[in-house]
Amino acid sequence: MRSPKDFFRPLAVGAPEPVRQIPLGPSRMIHFFDPGNEKMVAKLPGMAGTDVLLGNLEDAVAADRKEAARAGLVRVAREVDLGESQLWTRVNSLDSPWVLDDLVTLVTEVGDKLDVIMIPKVEGPEDIHYVDRLLAQLEARAGLRWPLLVHAILETASGVARVEEIATASPRMQGISLGPADLAASRRMKTTRVGGGHPGYLVRTDPVGEDLTAGRTTYQQDLWHYTVARMVDACAAAGILPYYGPYGDIRDTVGCEDQFRNAYLLGCVGAWSLHPAQIAIARKVFSPAPEEVAWARRVLAAMGDGTGAVMLDGKMQDDATVKQCQVVASLADELAA
Ligand code: GLV
Ligand code: MG
Repeated sequence: MRSPKDFFRPLAVGAPEPVRQIPLGPSRMIHFFDPGNEKMVAKLPGMAGTDVLLGNLEDAVAADRKEAARAGLVRVAREVDLGESQLWTRVNSLDSPWVLDDLVTLVTEVGDKLDVIMIPKVEGPEDIHYVDRLLAQLEARAGLRWPLLVHAILETASGVARVEEIATASPRMQGISLGPADLAASRRMKTTRVGGGHPGYLVRTDPVGEDLTAGRTTYQQDLWHYTVARMVDACAAAGILPYYGPYGDIRDTVGCEDQFRNAYLLGCVGAWSLHPAQIAIARKVFSPAPEEVAWARRVLAAMGDGTGAVMLDGKMQDDATVKQCQVVASLADELAA
């Protein structure tokens, strides 16, 4: 059985105090389950190899099921052997009537079994400050030895406008996920889906000659590019981890893989999974492919002490490609460990 300290490490070697800590294990997929749903809970012991199992108390749990979900999560944390999987929760939003009981109950009853608490609909750093203080009080009362970590969902226009402040709001900050469904509503986007693209969001090539309809090609664009890129920068600058959130069309495994891969290429370390099929997609996408890793190791070997320039297969390599290759190679090493 894991111990909480197995998942913690100093964020940066030689970092000044206070040392920020993040979970050590991979978090390529954050798999959501409803802890009040007995059928889902019964499947948890068979989900070995899922990096993160998240007991969801917020949206998708009906108002009259909130207490059952909270009690179910306490039972899961106490009684179910989740193997090496981390246990996270998403509590209700800070303006809801349920969140205070969520935090008090979970920290008091099973604070030593939880790794990360996800806070939805974060509007700014003051939301994180509030949670930070409350957790400190509850942890002291419960005598917990490890601080609970906090993960913010980026799903309000105000949150996006202040994402850099949110990322640095507390040493507890572990990461940030894009919440495309709530964010779309908050921004008054005209979409009606959970994540992914939209066939109407496209660019069209210029007309050829006088006929404006002839020979023109369209390309669908990524609705989430700006937000993901901004979130990744905020997280990288703060030393915390960025994630894509949910992809709601469970049947569309192709679109899901594409959306996850865009996020991976832009710097995200994982995404949510809402169905077992998406666990495999996230594992594949957020683990570097063997050929990528082999190429990265070839560059590193060819570059010796990492300075200067060499040509490999007609491509120029230098100190900067060494750094990129170190990212890929060290990710592969971490996943293999
Ligand atoms: C997730 O919570 C979302 O709103 O997309
Ligand atoms: Mg949401």
